[in-house]
Formats: sequence, structure tokens, C-alpha cells
Amino acid sequence: MTMTYRGTTALITGASSGLGAEFAVQFAARGADLVLVARRADRIHALAADLEARFGVAATAIPFDLARAGAGRELRSVVSERGIAVQTLVNNAGFGDHGAFVQHDPDLVAAEVQLNVAAVVELSRAFLPEMLERPVGALVNIASTAAFQPTPYMAVYGATKAFVLSFTEAVAYETRSSGLTVMAFCPGATRTEFFEVVGSKAPAVGRYQSPRQVVSAALAALDRRRTPGSVISGFANKVTSVGATLMPRGLTTAVSARLMKSD
Ligand SMILES: NC(=O)c1ccc[n+]([C@@H]2O[C@H](COP(=O)([O-])OP(=O)(O)OC[C@H]3O[C@@H](n4cnc5c(N)ncnc54)[C@H](OP(=O)(O)O)[C@@H]3O)[C@@H](O)[C@H]2O)c1
Repeated sequence: MTMTYRGTTALITGASSGLGAEFAVQFAARGADLVLVARRADRIHALAADLEARFGVAATAIPFDLARAGAGRELRSVVSERGIAVQTLVNNAGFGDHGAFVQHDPDLVAAEVQLNVAAVVELSRAFLPEMLERPVGALVNIASTAAFQPTPYMAVYGATKAFVLSFTEAVAYETRSSGLTVMAFCPGATRTEFFEVVGSKAPAVGRYQSPRQVVSAALAALDRRRTPGSVISGFANKVTSVGATLMPRGLTTAVSARLMKSD
């Protein structure tokens, strides 16, 4: 069965490009009203106008920097002040950086943890109560295939995604009888601006998927009668991710290091 989402509102972080913009398109195509969040105001305003014209939904753009302490709660207040109730939250905004950890810019590392981890927790905590009151949508936290093993030369990124995976699976268990779907979604290498931000294509392990393929897989998982607490995008990514968890940890880390370092 395909869920329509008509009459519900989906808030998508990181909606100015890549997977977030594609989530916005596919939710709008199913009739959901939208709240689009990212820092690049021009892009989310343009996307909101385009989706309103194409799909007849209401789309609100809220330019916002989520890599700040307290940003999640602040965004919840901004959304409430506009009189918008949220039924679906897609915590998608995130970035990575590449190279030896000891050489990483400390400010960038702090922002990475703040955005990829703290904002996901804050936003989930801020919006879950109202989502559970009317459980017709979903909480979708974007993890990664990087969550399944340590990722030397992207040490912080892989660890943030392992956090998102573990956190979301635990919350999915806690809320399993609520009627709300809670899912960590794990893409592999996807053709977005992600690798431009990272500054390297080295971590693009395996074949690239398109944002449309990845988001279609996520929405197909949400359509299932019983959505698992975590879902990996694509068969090849499933095989390599599950395979990584079956090998001895030291060996997995060494293989991962070889793949991540090459550039
Ligand atoms: N592409 C891949 O291969 C891949 C694989 C696995 C997982 N992922 C995950 O998928 C998610 C989406 O990434 P993507 O591939 O679509 O990359 P992307 O095209 O670079 O998109 C990242 C999004 O995050 C937003 N963002 C970055 N910093 C932000 C901040 N401080 N505050 C608010 N928004 C911020 C960006 O918007 P602004 O710059 O306008 O703020 C942008 O919309 C990320 O969580 C990423 O880790 C990606």
C-alpha cells in the first residue's frame, strides 16, 4: 500500500540539495505539505515555490543553521509560532570531512557532531510528542552505510552515523506500539553535493545511486506494514553493510581504512 501523506506536514532538514530536496519532491508528489529547512535561503524558497505550483501543496521555507547548540528546540518554537503541526520529520541535514582526524579543523569537527548528532536528537525530542499525538507520519533519521563499521579518515563522520543508527533503532523499539513509524535510513554513495563538501571522492565506496533511487527506497520502506527500525538503500549496500558486521572488527576497520584513504 502506498501512503499518500495528504493532509499531513513533513519537515525536512537539509532540503536545499541532494537527498533532502528529493525527499521534498517525493513527499509533495504524495500530497504532503512541507517545511523546508537549510541555510541557503534562496534554494529552499525557490524549491517551496516550485513544489506549491507543481503539486498544490503548502510549502514553508525556514532558513536555519542547525549546527548550533539548542538549534533543534529553537526550530521547534519557530515552527509552532507559525501555527504548523508536524506529523513527519526527516532529519537529513548532515556533512562529513575527510583526512586524518588529528589534522581536522576543530571548529568543523564540533559543527559536524552538532549537526549530525545533537540536532538529530534535539529535533527528535522536540517534535516526537506532537507526532505521537497524531501518529500518521514518520520519524526518518538519515544514517549511512558508514554506520556499520569504523571509518578511518572519516572517523567522526562514521561515528556520528553509527550514533544515528543506534539511537533511531532504540527509539523505534520504544515507540513500536504507538502507530508512528520510526526508521533510520542508510544510503550508500549517492550522487549529491555531499562529496564536494567532503572535498574528496575517496569515501564513495561502491556504485553511486541517484537521489531519486535512494528516496524511493526510503518511501517504499515507509509503505511497508511493519517498517524495520533501520533500512539500507539498495541490495549491494545491504550486502556490504551486513558483511562488515560479520567480519572481525579489526579486519573490517583495516578494509574500511584502505577504501577511505585512497584518493
Ligand atoms: N551522498 C551520499 O553519498 C550519502 C551517503 C550516506 C548518507 N548520506 C547522508 O545523507 C544526508 C544528506 O546528504 P546529501 O548527500 O544530500 O548531501 P548534500 O547535497 O551536501 O546536502 C546536505 C544538506 O544539509 C544541509 N546542511 C548542511 N549544513 C547545515 C546546517 N549547519 N544547518 C542546516 N542545514 C545544513 C545543506 O544545506 P545548506 O548548505 O543550504 O545549509 C544541504 O541541504 C546527510 O545526512 C548525509 O550524511 C549521504
